[in-house]
Amino acid sequence: MKKEQEDVDIDAIDSIIERHNVDVELLISILQDVQSEYNYLPADALRRVAERLQVPLIQVYSVATFFKAFSLVPRGRHSIHVCLGTACHVRGVQQVLGQIERDLEVKAGGTTDDGEFTLETVNCLGACALGPIVMVDDEYHGQMTPEKVRNLLKTV
Ligand code: FES
Repeated sequence: MKKEQEDVDIDAIDSIIERHNVDVELLISILQDVQSEYNYLPADALRRVAERLQVPLIQVYSVATFFKAFSLVPRGRHSIHVCLGTACHVRGVQQVLGQIERDLEVKAGGTTDDGEFTLETVNCLGACALGPIVMVDDEYHGQMTPEKVRNLLKTV
């Protein structure tokens, strides 16, 4: 099930915008702060940003969709990135991914019903020698096995 969009506190959005001097040049930084507040960019927040900066909404959306770090849908409190690159693939990352999907009851690309985890796949995390790699939030975990990842998830 998809996590519901949450209500946006317009005063909080205004104060983020004002902290950035209502300056359209600082749009990326404003969006970063909105995302750290909500863990994604709610549509109402983007509308408010466009209104206060007096720019077309499409301009705000084009920045929000250009950078992969931004998300337009609610994300979990923790992010899990599983590397499906060649080196990790040959070392059995599919079984690791399958274990995570079963344990968290979520498919890659989704967020758990309780809003705790968003599970995503990537093509290479740049640490191929340590594959299979799973990244939880900002931490890399190498040489993952279904067993190890299961224990890892219990510690998050
Ligand atoms: S292929 Fe997985 S880290 Fe490079």
